[in-house]
Amino acid sequence: MKQQYKQLLVFTPKPFVKWAGGKRQLMPTLSKHIPKKFDSYFEPFLGGGAVLFHLISENPKTKCFVSDLNSNLILSYITIRDRVEELISALKVHSENYFKNPKTYYYQIRESNPKNQIDKVSRLLFLNRTCFNGLYRVNSKGKFNVPLGKYTNPNIVNRENLLAVNHALQLNHISIKCQDFTKTLETAQKNDFVYLDPPYQPVSQTSNFTSYTNDSFGYEDQERLFLEFQKLDSKGCNVMLSNSKSDEVLDLFEDYSDKTIEISANRSINSDSKKRTGHSELLIKNY
Ligand SMILES: C[S@@+](CC[C@H](N)C(=O)[O-])C[C@H]1O[C@@H](n2cnc3c(N)ncnc32)[C@H](O)[C@@H]1O
Repeated sequence: MKQQYKQLLVFTPKPFVKWAGGKRQLMPTLSKHIPKKFDSYFEPFLGGGAVLFHLISENPKTKCFVSDLNSNLILSYITIRDRVEELISALKVHSENYFKNPKTYYYQIRESNPKNQIDKVSRLLFLNRTCFNGLYRVNSKGKFNVPLGKYTNPNIVNRENLLAVNHALQLNHISIKCQDFTKTLETAQKNDFVYLDPPYQPVSQTSNFTSYTNDSFGYEDQERLFLEFQKLDSKGCNVMLSNSKSDEVLDLFEDYSDKTIEISANRSINSDSKKRTGHSELLIKNY
C-alpha cells in the first residue's frame, strides 16, 4: 500500500511560495529531530509548508492538521488542492504578459485587487515569483508593497510542482484551515507530533520582521504560545518549537532548557544581502 502512495508522489512536493522564515534550507537539521513514531501531525504556523511537505513525502498516510492565520496563503493551498488546472492556466497568462513587459505588468498586478479565487491566488503566486527577494510582506493596511525583483527568467508557472502539491494534498488526510494557532491545537492528543514555527521574537530593534499578515505577533502572543506548549506537553504530545535566540524566549522556555538546542540558520529576510549572515536560532523540544 505504502509503495502505491509513493509511486503517485514521484515528484516530491516542495513549498510553492517562498515564505519569510521558510524552513526548507533547515530541513536536513530539523528532520533529525522529528520523532520516529507518532500518530497525527499538527502544524499551526504553516507558511510555505516545508516541514509538512517533507513529512508527507516520508509518510504519505499521516493524518495532518495544518493552518495559518494568513487567509490568502490558506486559499492558495485550497485552490491548488481543488482547482489546480484553472490556476495553472491563469499563471500561464500572467507569465506571457510578464515577459512582454515585466515592469509595467508587475506593477499593474501589484495594484490590482481581484475578488475571485483563481485571480487572487494566481496574483499571490505571480508576485511571489517576481517580487524582490520573493518575500510575501504586507504593510499596516494589509497591502502587498514589495518592489519588482531582478530576475531574468522567473519560473512563474512551475506546473510540475503545483501538480505534485495537488497530488499530495488530495492523497493525504490533511485538514487545512485559516485560524489562530490555539484553535488548531485544541484537538491534539497524546502521541501526536506538533511543530510550532511562529513569527520570531525580535532579537534586536531592527529585526522586527512580523508582517506576514497585517496582525503582528507580539510578546503577548509568545506568552500565549508558551502556555500552549505547556498544555501540549502535559497532554503527552511531542512538541518541537523554533524561535529566535532571544532573551525573552530563553526566559519563557527556561523549564525546557535541557531540551533546547541551538542550530545555525542562514536566513534571507534581510534585503541587504551583505547582512544575510548565518546566525543561531533555537529548537526547543519536550522529548
Ligand atoms: C515563521 S512563519 C512559518 C514558516 C513555515 N514553517 C515555512 O517553512 O514556510 C510563521 C507563520 O505564522 C503565521 N501566523 C502569524 N500569526 C499567527 C497566529 N496568531 N496563528 C497562526 N498563524 C499565525 C504567519 O502568517 C506565518 O505564515
